[in-house]
Amino acid sequence: MDSGLAPRGAPRNDEPLEPRPVPRFHTAMFRTFRGGQTGGWRVTSLSPVTGESLPFVPALSVTDSEAVSLPLVPSRNAWRLVGVASSLRYTERAEKQQLVAVQAGLGRLEATSAALIPIRKSQAWWELTQEERRKIFEDKSHHIASSLRFLPAIARQLYHCRDLGGPFDFLTWFEFAPANASLFEELVAMLRRTEEWTYVEREVDVRVVKEVLSA
Ligand code: HEM
Repeated sequence: MDSGLAPRGAPRNDEPLEPRPVPRFHTAMFRTFRGGQTGGWRVTSLSPVTGESLPFVPALSVTDSEAVSLPLVPSRNAWRLVGVASSLRYTERAEKQQLVAVQAGLGRLEATSAALIPIRKSQAWWELTQEERRKIFEDKSHHIASSLRFLPAIARQLYHCRDLGGPFDFLTWFEFAPANASLFEELVAMLRRTEEWTYVEREVDVRVVKEVLSA
């Protein structure tokens, strides 16, 4: 006999049957850096540090999206690099606490200078185990310990892209006030001298300034 009551746990007829949002995929998870003719950042320099450069472009746009079309088709006067802000691989609890205590977020009004540094590491790096990589990254190169003093002046975000099939493994992004430009030079010079960097086989350094819209 139909009691008119839905079984326990079953959806009631008057509830909309909306699919539950799938964690992560309903958010804009892909960050796209597009070098081209237009964008919110004006390119002031684009230099190869190691390996092949990228074509020079006058502007950089930075956008977030839920999906991207792959593969990324190369062009002669524009490029598109896509990455995902992922979980931490090497950072230990105490380091994370130190970072969180001092780091600044992206988008500060005064941080009108920025750098996009796409990096690819060698096959030799990827053949190491996670533990071996951590040893080189932190125990020998002190990537975190030596960089902490640059916070909060330099705001940073790492995007992973190795598994997306693009030409780089990481897209690193930094924002700072123009007054901290030489501090940023000191930071990159320091990291480029580390053992970790001997595994970098392609690195391009793109410097940009925020485009100010005139009224
Ligand atoms: C502002 C100071 C910086 C701090 C505090 C910092 C901190 C970190 C931390 C905590 C990680 C590890 C994330 C994880 O656990 O997976 C990391 C990874 C990384 N950082 Fe930095 N970093 C800084 C500057 C830089 C600069 C200037 C560059 C590039 C020139 C850079 C390139 C990278 C790369 C490529 C990785 C990924 C390494 C890998 O997974 O093999 N970092 N950084």
